[in-house]
Amino acid sequence: MRPGAGPAIRATALSKCYGSTRALAAVDLEVGAGTVLALLGPNGAGKSTTVRILTTLTAPDSGRAEVAGYDVIRQAHLVRASIGLAGQHAAVDGRLTGRENLIMVGRLHRLSHREARRRAAELLERFDLVPVADRPAHSYSGGTRRRIDLAASLVSRAPVLFLDEPTTGLDPRSRSDLWDLVDELVGNGTAVLLTTQYLDEADRLADHITVVDHGRVVAEGSPEELKRSIGSERLSVRVHELEQLFTVSEAMRRIGGHTAVADPVAREVTTCTPDGARLLTEVIHGLDGTGIVLDGAELLRPSLDDVFLALTLRGGSE
Ligand SMILES: Nc1ncnc2c1ncn2[C@@H]1O[C@H](COP(=O)(O)OP(=O)(O)OP(=O)(O)O)[C@@H](O)[C@H]1O
Ligand SMILES: [Mg+2]
Repeated sequence: MRPGAGPAIRATALSKCYGSTRALAAVDLEVGAGTVLALLGPNGAGKSTTVRILTTLTAPDSGRAEVAGYDVIRQAHLVRASIGLAGQHAAVDGRLTGRENLIMVGRLHRLSHREARRRAAELLERFDLVPVADRPAHSYSGGTRRRIDLAASLVSRAPVLFLDEPTTGLDPRSRSDLWDLVDELVGNGTAVLLTTQYLDEADRLADHITVVDHGRVVAEGSPEELKRSIGSERLSVRVHELEQLFTVSEAMRRIGGHTAVADPVAREVTTCTPDGARLLTEVIHGLDGTGIVLDGAELLRPSLDDVFLALTLRGGSE
């Protein structure tokens, strides 16, 4: 990576049309070293197009992007030398074995034959591929091909890694292994841009999420920020004695500035709030000196699924 060159990935106003289809319309994004950006969006949103532009496989109509400090158009060869890519569709040569595929990628990255063999063996081990390593790749199951492809993206130990739907088609165990691996890479300073349809994956891995739809960024932020942006968490607190209910609902209204609904049967007061944890702390403080001790509290947070649906549920994208 070019030293002192700023973020690992920076894209400004990327636009791209395929005929009359506008695949991307002025997309901005940024990924720092040692962080993960998840590009989240429904089918046809423009995720793969973004990845293809940033990995120099296709040129934007307008806008600019730097990866590892290099311009994706003018310095495409330097970008290619700085990145690992596992595209949406596994790029594995079916005539070669898994091991030969990885060795070939190593050789393309100018590793010595010995070093390429060593790296291939290491990655085959890491991806649990040793038992199938010497079979031709055309005989592999979809998930196994995918794992070879992911291993190939790591051969060169690139500082910037692009993973386009990396866990689609993987079984739960391989999926969770890949998540651990991404954690490890990021811990060592790798910048990762991944696309995913799996919201739990974005929630688990991403420092920052950019939601795209119809080629535009429709929301961005940390997983927590995005969840908060569509509102509301629901805080319910339970009191021990029914006569305490009024005092507590008054305290919640006073502090939270929201409507609090009291349910005498459940002895609960419930309110919607953008930050339930803070409100709960403040309510507990506010009850200081009243002698009232809460019997229980429950905080329900919106999931990323709620965010995704709220942002993109406007019919098909294509
Ligand atoms: N080579 C191409 N020729 C014509 N249209 C294309 C081409 N590649 C992409 N498109 C169109 O551009 C839009 C964005 O496609 P893209 O593959 O970037 O979406 P995506 O978010 O990766 O979707 P998916 O979740 O299905 O992988 C879609 O409408 C798609 O049909
Ligand atoms: Mg795609």
